[in-house]
Amino acid sequence: MLDSTEAVAQYIEEIAARTEAVLAAYLDAIPDASSTLLEAIRYSLLGAGKRLRPALVLGTTEMLAGDDAPALPAACAIEMIHTYSLIHDDLPAMDNDDLRRGKPTSHKAFGEATAILAGDALLTMAFDFAATSGNVQVIREIAQAAGVGGMAGGQQLDLESESKRISLPELRRVHAWKTGALIRCSVRCGALLAGAREDTLAALTAYGDRIGLAFQIADDILNVTGTEEQLGKPVGSDATRQKSTYPALVGLERSRELADEAAAAAIAELHDFGPKADRLRAMARFVVERDK
Ligand code: IPE
Ligand code: IPE
Ligand code: MG
Ligand code: MG
Repeated sequence: MLDSTEAVAQYIEEIAARTEAVLAAYLDAIPDASSTLLEAIRYSLLGAGKRLRPALVLGTTEMLAGDDAPALPAACAIEMIHTYSLIHDDLPAMDNDDLRRGKPTSHKAFGEATAILAGDALLTMAFDFAATSGNVQVIREIAQAAGVGGMAGGQQLDLESESKRISLPELRRVHAWKTGALIRCSVRCGALLAGAREDTLAALTAYGDRIGLAFQIADDILNVTGTEEQLGKPVGSDATRQKSTYPALVGLERSRELADEAAAAAIAELHDFGPKADRLRAMARFVVERDK
């Protein structure tokens, strides 16, 4: 049973435990590190986080190759970059949030300078780790997804879209870059590490694009409808900062429809894969049905 919501939630938890162990071992092996910086990195990276991106990397490789082990370095590298993006996203100069993954944000716990450096170090470590996959294309995919035409560029657009009205296509672009790029990259890296053919890669890229959008619309919705206890981060903060979000632009009901449509479109991209893609189909549903 790959396809029930329960089964996929359990799968993601298993991946979380494996990813956690590999990340902890990587940090343990760093010689002569500043203990404060390492403490800050451990604080943000270990112990919480859904680990959705590693689950997408590993789930895709497993589906195509039957063994996900070759994808572990890329999965962990992407989680490191994701964690760095959260630390910097929460900084006073960006979203100025106090709570993340159920705890005070990095800059609240360690100060702004250490939070910035923890992000810098996580980004750099990610490429050290990704290099152990031995796959240059994977390294380039991750670099591009995190960079100017991906997460960092999307974060810039997100900040520039505060306190003003942007169009729905513009907002879709913000979401596709700030969040979609790393999610799409997770699926693509999983496929590349399984040696996927061009047509397989193209279908999975389209799947990744669509769940990336669905994921960020769900994040916007949960910022309105969720609770701080559920999410482990502040709610209502998008409205306070006058962020451009789906609920702000089209209302909650339409946002839910658009998230569902994006998840359905993701699933439609998997039509040629048969039952072996049931887990990826369930993950598309999970992205929009989640309550945290
Ligand atoms: C939150 O991502 C930030 C976005 C990119 C929307 P997640 O919801 O995956 O955060 P964690 O990893 O579970 O904390
Ligand atoms: C986060 O977007 C995107 C990245 C960290 C790249 P948001 O600012 O909307 O996410 P949350 O709600 O703080 O997790
Ligand atoms: Mg933000
Ligand atoms: Mg934020």
